[in-house]
Amino acid sequence: MSAATSRRPSMLERRSSAMSSRRPSIDPSRLVPMDKTTAHTGNEFNVVFVGAGNIMFGSDEGPWNHSFRFEHKLGPRLKVVALIDPAIERATTVLQKKCESFVRSAYENTRVFKTLEDYVNSFDRKSPPQAFVVGSPPMFRGTTKPGRDIEIQILNHFPNVALFIEKPVTTGPSEEIEEAFKVAKFISDKGTITSVGYMLRYLKAVQMMKQIIDDNNLTVMATIARYATAYEAIAKPDWWNKSKSAGPIVEQGTHFCDLSRYFGGDVDISTVSAHSVEWYENAGHLSKQSIDETAIPPEDRVPRVTAATWKYEGGAVGSFTHLVALQGHDYSCELEVYADGYQLKLVNPYVQPVLYVRRPGSDLEESHRFPDDDPFFSEISVWIDNIEDIEEDPETAQILCTFDGQCHPIGQQAVADGERFTDACKSYELTWAIREASERTRNLKRAEAAPIQA
Ligand SMILES: NC(=O)c1ccc[n+]([C@@H]2O[C@H](COP(=O)([O-])OP(=O)(O)OC[C@H]3O[C@@H](n4cnc5c(N)ncnc54)[C@H](O)[C@@H]3O)[C@@H](O)[C@H]2O)c1
Repeated sequence: MSAATSRRPSMLERRSSAMSSRRPSIDPSRLVPMDKTTAHTGNEFNVVFVGAGNIMFGSDEGPWNHSFRFEHKLGPRLKVVALIDPAIERATTVLQKKCESFVRSAYENTRVFKTLEDYVNSFDRKSPPQAFVVGSPPMFRGTTKPGRDIEIQILNHFPNVALFIEKPVTTGPSEEIEEAFKVAKFISDKGTITSVGYMLRYLKAVQMMKQIIDDNNLTVMATIARYATAYEAIAKPDWWNKSKSAGPIVEQGTHFCDLSRYFGGDVDISTVSAHSVEWYENAGHLSKQSIDETAIPPEDRVPRVTAATWKYEGGAVGSFTHLVALQGHDYSCELEVYADGYQLKLVNPYVQPVLYVRRPGSDLEESHRFPDDDPFFSEISVWIDNIEDIEEDPETAQILCTFDGQCHPIGQQAVADGERFTDACKSYELTWAIREASERTRNLKRAEAAPIQA
């Protein structure tokens, strides 16, 4: 046997080969509910949380709360070895609460650091981290620029850890979109097990839609998405300020742009067109904002409606309407996917998902309900299974959204299978294309309306 053939495959090669044989979808019956998780006995699972905010520890704003899902997935094995957040008081307060509860063992030795650098300088070498969960605001990550390059810094110091990164992968000026792709390449070259927080892909309803498409060998003709925010409940002033949050499409509509791409494939970005209703238009007047919008510079105020269309590279057409229009608490969101003879309509994915299916040769609409489905748990669970089982169990469910599919073997496999692989950087790129297209048409309209200069 030659040296080349007897060489033991590197970790990257082993991971790549295990992952390339996996499907970019999951049989919905294999998504294990939180209350049916089996208790793994085994080693402690050391994780670092970056960010002590709502996504990590929960709030009244919604069902997100990663720490809660980690506790249920790992039980007594969970050890949060560090919590990194410049807001030390916030971090200390959330830890204190955890230590007063039955999950104390996961947090009693957690150390709080202001920065990653502080952690690197004094971390306990007897408890090295296996994984980092990055839930800091997106403007502090997803680039190669100092202070906004936490993924690169983490992997430089801890090359073997896995990463979970919240959506969107970054925010910043649109000229910097390429930065996210550079970070993606860096992560991909390291062979890091990475998942990005587009949890809607893990909904059982979404996986059932994928299964219907796969089983019937369908070609998607169109995706129609609508996301109507309950704006009254949004009390964070930054959300209303485009210079802080990047605006509702990049920050929030991103979930539905990503889901559209999960079904439609990659978008021909040059085809994206969009219109908006702006805050200064009659139709854009809102009567129940819970913030003082006059404190936000006029040019930074968010649009009330953004309606976009585009062509997918595979030939289908996509459309997305985002609305800042509803009051109360719950959002109203729907995604329709069409193929020859089929309509797959996903309703209310955040609160109580229902999937309506119309099949060829029939006017009837079947409805499917998925009580107690928790996509936040499923995405964490699948990511941890990949970290723990990657080499032993090729049946481990596949991570459904990575940072970048371009240089990843899963992507090549999926395209070879005729199924388009989609990824988080491209979703970020699409959201910016929509925002910019809507601002272009807005500016044209304004220029038309402006009095002709003498
Ligand atoms: N998947 C979802 O449904 C979902 C839901 C909510 C939030 N998110 C995402 O999670 C991220 C955080 O949102 P949030 O609601 O928790 O925000 P938040 O404002 O509640 O918390 C952010 C925390 O990060 C800290 N922080 C700021 N700069 C930091 C840095 N450089 N390093 C470490 N920590 C830093 C802040 O002090 C704060 O405690 C955003 O990207 C958001 O879009 C996703």
